[in-house]
Amino acid sequence: MSATLMYEKMKEKLSRVVPDAELRYKAELADRILELKKERNAVILAHNYMEPALYYSVPDITGDSLELSRKAAQTDADVIVFCGVRFMAETAKILSPEKTVLLPASKAGCSLAASITAEDVRNLKAQFPGVPVVTYVNCYADVKAETDICCTSSNAAMVVESLDSEQVIFLPDEYLAKNVARETGKTIIFPSKTPQARFDELNYQFIGWHGKCEVHERFTVEDIENARRQFPDVIVLAHPECPPEVVEAADFSGSTTAMVKYVQENKAERYLLLTECSMGDNIAAENPDKEMVRMCSIRCPHMNQITMEDTLAALEKMQYVIDVPEEIRVRAFDAVNRMLAIGPGGARD
Ligand code: 13P
Ligand code: SF4
Repeated sequence: MSATLMYEKMKEKLSRVVPDAELRYKAELADRILELKKERNAVILAHNYMEPALYYSVPDITGDSLELSRKAAQTDADVIVFCGVRFMAETAKILSPEKTVLLPASKAGCSLAASITAEDVRNLKAQFPGVPVVTYVNCYADVKAETDICCTSSNAAMVVESLDSEQVIFLPDEYLAKNVARETGKTIIFPSKTPQARFDELNYQFIGWHGKCEVHERFTVEDIENARRQFPDVIVLAHPECPPEVVEAADFSGSTTAMVKYVQENKAERYLLLTECSMGDNIAAENPDKEMVRMCSIRCPHMNQITMEDTLAALEKMQYVIDVPEEIRVRAFDAVNRMLAIGPGGARD
């Protein structure tokens, strides 16, 4: 495809969302990325949080964490360019060790992944022997390696129920754990906030950790009330990494792809998305007849590291290569693979 054709294609979708000068410039970048992608026999996976010009031009596959994990396991390309954050690229490497996995930015972290270490998990296992460990995929490979099974925001309750265990250690997102505990009718404790001597007196099924997403923890019930006051017909969608009182006050909660599908399939005219703000632009581009009520101050600084310029540089210079030591990878693989074996996967509807 030429840069001109690419520009026309992007304009069709993005003329209301991205300024024209930016579209022309990014269409040229996209054209060069597509050429190199072919040359390198690469596939580009992009998370739903990527900025609109990138999201609607170069990826072969877009989706939420679970969908991208599944696709990373299935591709037969030599190279995977992961337009997302480091833990997602690591998951791709865990599933496809024979492929070269590139992350276009040298850092692109995640506050949840940074909240817990492998040693923290080993300490919890020693404190609660025999209790299975479920870890949200938003963590690094060495943490996954200490885990019985991973989950994502779209299958967390299903994963917990599949274990058939009285108790589970659910790490590291405090709010996702509280939301899943509420959904499955379980009680949760946080060992770091509870004296060990009191454990025996308490009745609990979930053992949680205090990690938080620095984006989703910022949404409040007041945000919802203000939006409803101004737009009484607004439908509120909250990601399950939001605080439990926010999820409770929303009309719907689900993974990023579940939110995309909800807006696509619903007839309502107005939506408030309590999640990373680029996704609001991506949904607005796809649904010109629907209004996304903007609260767009909240962009994930880590997802924001991934630009089209960096994606081109990743393919030109074959950077930044993601490696996972084999001894960690094989154990992390079991945890991710057990998750992939459960249920139909994909977004909850
Ligand atoms: P999803 O799996 O819902 O896409 O979430 C990933 C994420 O990082 C949300 O902040
Ligand atoms: Fe991590 Fe939150 Fe950014 Fe997702 S949005 S990558 S959970 S910091």
